[in-house]
Amino acid sequence: MAGPLPLGDPAPADGHLPDDLPIDTSVPFSAYLHIPFCTVRCGYCDFNTYTSTELRGAKQEDYASTLISEIGLARRVLADAGALRPMDTVFFGGGTPTLLPAGDLARMLEAATSAFGLAEGAEVTVEANPDTVTPAVARTLAAAGVTRMSVGMQSAVPHVLASLDRTHRPENVTTAVAAAKDAGLAVSVDLIYGAPGESLADWEASLDAALALESDHVSAYALIIEDGTKLARQIRRGEVPTPDDDVQADMYELADARLAAGGFDWYEVSNWARTPEQRSRHNLAYWRGSDWWGFGPGAHSHVAGLRWWNVKHPAAYAQRLAASESPAAGTERPDAESRTLERILLLSRIREGIAIDEVPTANRSRVAGLIADGLVDPAAAIRGRVQLTLRGRLLADAVVRELTD
Ligand SMILES: C[S@@+](CC[C@H](N)C(=O)[O-])C[C@H]1O[C@@H](n2cnc3c(N)ncnc32)[C@H](O)[C@@H]1O
Ligand code: SF4
Repeated sequence: MAGPLPLGDPAPADGHLPDDLPIDTSVPFSAYLHIPFCTVRCGYCDFNTYTSTELRGAKQEDYASTLISEIGLARRVLADAGALRPMDTVFFGGGTPTLLPAGDLARMLEAATSAFGLAEGAEVTVEANPDTVTPAVARTLAAAGVTRMSVGMQSAVPHVLASLDRTHRPENVTTAVAAAKDAGLAVSVDLIYGAPGESLADWEASLDAALALESDHVSAYALIIEDGTKLARQIRRGEVPTPDDDVQADMYELADARLAAGGFDWYEVSNWARTPEQRSRHNLAYWRGSDWWGFGPGAHSHVAGLRWWNVKHPAAYAQRLAASESPAAGTERPDAESRTLERILLLSRIREGIAIDEVPTANRSRVAGLIADGLVDPAAAIRGRVQLTLRGRLLADAVVRELTD
């Protein structure tokens, strides 16, 4: 969702899928609902999100109804293609989904459930900023069928939160997590490490605070300096230091050690869960290449090898749907070689890794070198899989290059 949209081929105005797609309704189906609103834009963030002054006439209060019209279109398109099946996972992401009234999120979930069905035991996640979660919001969401809340904690240290332009106070995270738990929701927290001015001791304090929350799941992301953000400009002008790769590597190792000691196991380079059941099934669906429909401006979709993405601005999105047209801006059908590269890129970052058989034949002999460098687990390789070691997780991009170049 970050940065400009890809170019791709033009998408059909009615959104129909090509007749020759190899649809397989036994593949899990997920729905991503993008909520493109934030109160302020954090200096590091280039997600497709808009503050109230950037909406160019698009109305937050009309958003649920607009997105529900895309749900209607998706139902028609998937039914015509023989691809309809219940949703295994639903994810409200943003932006800040909890900036909308909880009733709007409930209405969208109800519309998606009546259009596609919701599988027994489905995972339904809502991303939330700590400032926007009250006990009433959490209870409304839980009553509507939400099962999980992902809270944007980022840090527990005030000067780090300030350098990230975060508006919440550390104690708001505690109240938000308590509200979610009291409502019966599973809880994940998002952390960022390597912010300007953040020391290893600061990061340790954030990890300790995250562990004290007793969540079920933690995501910890190295701060990425995205082009076009305020933070990138500040770094270019020399106003704030560039994050140091070695410090970020130390921070990753500390995170893994602390989280492991606190009862969490890694299952993707940036994700830890207490039990396999508490892993994010929605994100695993992306990494494993399942089918999903992404609703909302700038959202990406994938069905049976076909990808498409929606127009980026909420005003353009609303105009398309008001004219009964598909909001898709472009589409592409990657060839077999691109699909293999993408599978390696995504699967090698998760704990189960990738079967050595799936690595292009010409590159398989490189696995021995990766084992010798301590990047790939030798025992897993004997079982026929490429799985990253801790050092391999730190250098995951280099491992992927070795397997694909
Ligand atoms: C789109 S945000 C949604 C959650 C909510 N808006 C919030 O920020 O609390 C999802 C997560 O992406 C991560 N993120 C966004 N920009 C990032 C960046 N430049 N580098 C690393 N992580 C980033 C943050 O941890 C954030 O919680
Ligand atoms: S609140 Fe979340 S989505 Fe919004 S600008 Fe900040 S990080 Fe990005």
